[in-house]
Amino acid sequence: MSVTPKLRAVTTLRLKEMKMAGEKITMLTGYDYTMAKILDESGIDVILVGDSAANVMAGYETTVPMTLDSMIYHGRAVARGVNRALVVVDLPFGTYQGDSRLALQSAVRIMKETEADAVKIEGGAEIIESVERILTAGIPVMGHLGLTPQSINKYGTYAVRAKEDAEAQKLLSDAKLLEEAGCFAVVLEKIPAALGRQVASELAIPVIGIGAGDVDGQVLVSYDMLGITGEFSPRFLRRYDDLRSRMSNAFKQYIEDVKSGDFPAESERY
Ligand code: KIV
Repeated sequence: MSVTPKLRAVTTLRLKEMKMAGEKITMLTGYDYTMAKILDESGIDVILVGDSAANVMAGYETTVPMTLDSMIYHGRAVARGVNRALVVVDLPFGTYQGDSRLALQSAVRIMKETEADAVKIEGGAEIIESVERILTAGIPVMGHLGLTPQSINKYGTYAVRAKEDAEAQKLLSDAKLLEEAGCFAVVLEKIPAALGRQVASELAIPVIGIGAGDVDGQVLVSYDMLGITGEFSPRFLRRYDDLRSRMSNAFKQYIEDVKSGDFPAESERY
């Protein structure tokens, strides 16, 4: 008996084809089954199970405390809700830096325990050995350069990165290193638009930006673009709704209805 593997419709190869055809790639974060299902049914190309779950789901100030077990929990929930989109899970802080064997073990756990399609990893030359070792196991890797939130304690700021020439040159050479190593795509976060454009034009693999200008695709944190989170307002964030107030109004109405005895009505009782 032969078994045909059930691949999701959006593959890493498909993303490369999209870049070649000039078709923009759409990516949003997802952390749970229900949201992932809505994202998938809406036609998103890539769902990123970002370690921004640390902020959005768990209320931490940075992504540093995120654990591999928590990423696997979110990754598994998302993958169960997705048929079409490519599912990428972030390797969290401390699970890949400085030890490529550990990096491989962490990536293998994500792939075996979540049914995701790929992992994402922050950094360039410093973590290239980890990227290479993960790729030897046939696990697709997405890079992440520019503002890398897991290094917040090193830089001490979430300001725009690579504004100076030396940092811009390092970013460009890191991006090329990631491509040569075999990454299928790179995320660029919060860098000047001109640099984003240059990286996207010099790389054959797709460049997906968050505050990196007009590159091959865009990613946002779903809770931010839906307007569920309120405090975070960087220039790159376009809010597509104001769900925070709409949810709050619905919750207030429910409270009022229960308190007044309006809910449940006769038609809502057995
Ligand atoms: O964790 C995350 O949500 C991310 C995106 C901001 C790219 O890495």
